Amino acid sequence: MPVQDPNDSRRSFLVGATALVMQAMTGCKASAPRHSMVPVHPSADSSLRLHAAEHRLLYGTAVAMHPLRTDAEYTRLIKEQCSILVPENCMKWAEIHPKPEQYNFEEADYLVAFAEKNHIKVRGHNLVWHKSLPVWLTSSISPEMARTMMTEHIQEVAGRYSNRMHSWDVVNEAIHLEDGRADGYRDSLWLKNIGPDYIEIAFQVARDADPAALLTYNEYGLDNESNEHEAKRQAVLQMLRRLKTRNIPIDALGLQAHLSTTHATYGEGLRRFLTSVRELGLQIFVTELDVNDEKMPADPGQRDLAVAKAVTDYLKVVLSERDVRAVLTWGISTRYSWLRTPQDPNPRGLPFDTQYQPTLFFNALRDSFDDRATQGLEPHSARTFVPLLPSTREKGGVE
Ligand code: G3I
Repeated sequence: MPVQDPNDSRRSFLVGATALVMQAMTGCKASAPRHSMVPVHPSADSSLRLHAAEHRLLYGTAVAMHPLRTDAEYTRLIKEQCSILVPENCMKWAEIHPKPEQYNFEEADYLVAFAEKNHIKVRGHNLVWHKSLPVWLTSSISPEMARTMMTEHIQEVAGRYSNRMHSWDVVNEAIHLEDGRADGYRDSLWLKNIGPDYIEIAFQVARDADPAALLTYNEYGLDNESNEHEAKRQAVLQMLRRLKTRNIPIDALGLQAHLSTTHATYGEGLRRFLTSVRELGLQIFVTELDVNDEKMPADPGQRDLAVAKAVTDYLKVVLSERDVRAVLTWGISTRYSWLRTPQDPNPRGLPFDTQYQPTLFFNALRDSFDDRATQGLEPHSARTFVPLLPSTREKGGVE
């Protein structure tokens, strides 16, 4: 059972003090926050999984394999809080396909079996990316061999877990406007060796290898109201329209949502984008939500408030879109987060801190799920994954 966070009393003081300052500045009594601003001590019956399910959402996290096997509290928290998981690294090319004729499925097998045993769904991440590529591939790829290499990899990996996966990140981060192409495509090893159609090919091969899974395009930098993010949203939309026009099998868009405390404006640009994505008949998943708070002072109380604001402001826009079906954080505890560095050993940008104590991120997630307008959204049962055949895949049909 998590212990009382010593910062709790400090945090509630801080929140109370903030309200008093607001009252003094505005002359009006700051209304008591609608939701508790003091982290709760979650349990199975107040879990993110259940709050999400009440609003037709799945909640889950990226999983690091070493702690999943060795850290009992980490594993307990995942079982208690999550209805969907995604491997942080073990299904990437460098880890799962370390040599030309050798695949290393041991960790991915463990994760999929763990999830199935605990009635948790699994996302696959990722089949085609410009990073985490083994040296044997980057040193031997050629225009003559690239399509075969990519096709065989997808067939081996997606085929192995066919009918067991909620979804696949088929292509990850293919848009990179800085490369200057008219279509906004990243000038990656895949584009150089296969051409822009590598994206279409990857999705078609993935559909053939795993017909039951929801095929997803996953991308970062689509979140705030900056010109940069708006331009990237338009390029992603152009690509999605191209795929749909060509009847390429794609089912969902993944918003990575790596937020920061310095970018706290989420609004009409994002809202319009999500509407356009829905109009293409695609589901939407928040796939890698976390908040980079490294620019904040060290004080956990201040960091928590800034992180919770970013999460609340972002999800207020995103969860107003009815076809958002899953929210995954990129880690459940900052103990194993990529955000944790020797220079910043105690980031607050995930639902639980390095001591597995809930942060205000947890409250913001829970309250954002609870605040989601529920009209027209039948409650989402958090039951086990039932593979869908394409013929019975209706939009949002994944339960
Ligand atoms: O497993 C090797 C280990 O054997 C070796 O000793 C060690 C030192 O070189 O490296 C280990 O691999 C590292 C791997 O994480 C596992 O810890 C890689 O070097 C390191 O690059 C890799 O970083 C991951 C990164 O993606 C690149 O794959 C991060 O953990 C992971 O959080 C991050 O996640 C990405 C998503 O996949 C895509 N969206 C952005 C997100 C954040 O960058």
